[in-house]
Amino acid sequence: MIDTRLTRELELAVPILGAPMGGRAGGRLAGEVTRAGGLGLLGAARYATPDWVAEEAAIAREIGGGPLGVGLMTWALDADDSLLDAVLAEDPSLVSLSFGDPAPYVERVHAAGALAISQVNTLDDLRVVERAGVDFVVAQGHEAGGHTGRIGTLPLLQEVLDATSLPVLAAGGIGTGRGLAAVIAAGAEGAMIGTALLASPETIGPEYARGKLIEAGSADTVYTSIFDRARDQPWPARWGGRALANEYTTMWHGQGADNETLSAAYDPEDPDLGVVYAGEVAGLVTSERPASEVVRVIATDAERLLRRPF
Ligand SMILES: Cc1cc2nc3c(=O)[nH]c(=O)nc-3n(C[C@H](O)[C@H](O)[C@H](O)COP(=O)(O)O)c2cc1C
Repeated sequence: MIDTRLTRELELAVPILGAPMGGRAGGRLAGEVTRAGGLGLLGAARYATPDWVAEEAAIAREIGGGPLGVGLMTWALDADDSLLDAVLAEDPSLVSLSFGDPAPYVERVHAAGALAISQVNTLDDLRVVERAGVDFVVAQGHEAGGHTGRIGTLPLLQEVLDATSLPVLAAGGIGTGRGLAAVIAAGAEGAMIGTALLASPETIGPEYARGKLIEAGSADTVYTSIFDRARDQPWPARWGGRALANEYTTMWHGQGADNETLSAAYDPEDPDLGVVYAGEVAGLVTSERPASEVVRVIATDAERLLRRPF
């Protein structure tokens, strides 16, 4: 067993958080990650409703039988924080407040008895979330699936570990035991894993997404804002999203089209046009596997690697 501050504080068997993936991580996925000994986070997207949170939290608890984690997007809370109330009503153990300044929300999370964590993409972000009083910081690198920053996981993780006394997790590009062992050897207390779980039958989202991920290699992703602009998702400009390249990105990424044109050309039902957010570990995801197996294998392999004689 890999024993870290993350496993101790949350009483986990493995130092893995299942990433809060909006549109893909509902109660089944989160519950399976928790059942395997990590902590799965529900991905409450900007368009999620309080009812969705309550229903998926119940599913996650039933499957996972343990603590509940939920991820929210801070910039979306700044416009309407009712989703935070819905999340705190579920008595979570951990709330992730990422992409923005979590300061207005951390006290409420703590008052509800939960840990607050934030993903950061730069050292400036680190200072913001330290001031806000979060309990763990997650260094999220450019190779991550979904929305992320521009610095690679390894350079960012090293910078963050050197610059803070907070416990640090790593996210972005961790898809096997090798990745988990690497970040733990570097000083992280664990990893937040997203893409590696996305070919699991417990994911939600479009039917085609799992197959597209399995087909994709590590060079088949693109960092872009065109899907946000097509889908009227008002993400602050500094965060692009990493998605699988497809006919839509070939046609529109970097073309300078306006939002109206992008929306008119977008069709989420079409497997060649619809967005599949995923990171560069897409190349390591080669078959559909239950999330619990993915988590257990990553943890077991990491432990073996960390114990091997050098
Ligand atoms: C499909 C997808 C959706 C995501 N949605 C969110 C989200 O709603 N909130 C969030 O904080 N992070 C989100 N992320 C980022 C993850 O929390 C995490 O940083 C990332 O998956 C880690 O990198 P990896 O995909 O290489 O494992 C998303 C990632 C993916 C792949």
